[in-house]
Amino acid sequence: MYKLLKTLLSSALLLGLFVQVNANEMYVFVSNTELKSKGREIAKLFLGVPVHVVKDDGKNVKVTVKGYIDGLNLYSTEKKKLLIATLFKGFKATKKSENEVELSGYIEKGSLTKESAEVWEEHEEFYYEMCTQCHAAPKIPHHSMTEWEALFEPMKGFAKLDAEESEYLLRYIKSNALNGLVKTNH
Ligand code: HEC
Repeated sequence: MYKLLKTLLSSALLLGLFVQVNANEMYVFVSNTELKSKGREIAKLFLGVPVHVVKDDGKNVKVTVKGYIDGLNLYSTEKKKLLIATLFKGFKATKKSENEVELSGYIEKGSLTKESAEVWEEHEEFYYEMCTQCHAAPKIPHHSMTEWEALFEPMKGFAKLDAEESEYLLRYIKSNALNGLVKTNH
């Protein structure tokens, strides 16, 4: 009895811990979501970008977004493989380390989700439709963004994708790649 209680208690604790660790991370669910700074400057966030929730007052949440900046563009990695935000003039990024910066501001809560998989449902469907005609769907997190750029090049011809479809799919693939936006255990 005591042992059972102990097991239950520790799993409850673990669960609590797990929820807490993840509670502060959310993902942009709507393309071009506006991040408004205190001074009302605007940055636009791309789909699936992870944000760290600092404060939640119901309708709006205060968040931070980390990345690597080049002019008015914010990228997810130092090698600038994936654009995650564009800043309007005046939006100030805070320097975090040598090259990494942080954006801070407010977002409407409705444009965020806790489940990154939810963000990519439509993309995933299109991926399966286009990329399983000749072979099984390749596991996206098995390759880095750079590897995917090379792998994707001939395949977009094979799948007869137009420019817009290619961009749509490649953004999905990169976001979910090994070093993409979605953190997985692969
Ligand atoms: C018309 C058939 C066809 C379609 C459609 C197609 N592929 Fe392929 N794919 C191939 C063939 C054939 C190969 C193996 C030969 C090669 O590497 O060129 C391959 C190989 C690959 C590989 C390399 C596997 C490895 O581990 O080396 C990846 C990754 C891949 N495809 C991804 C995709 C993606 C993503 C799409 C959708 C955009 C796609 N493919 C659509 C025919 C296709």
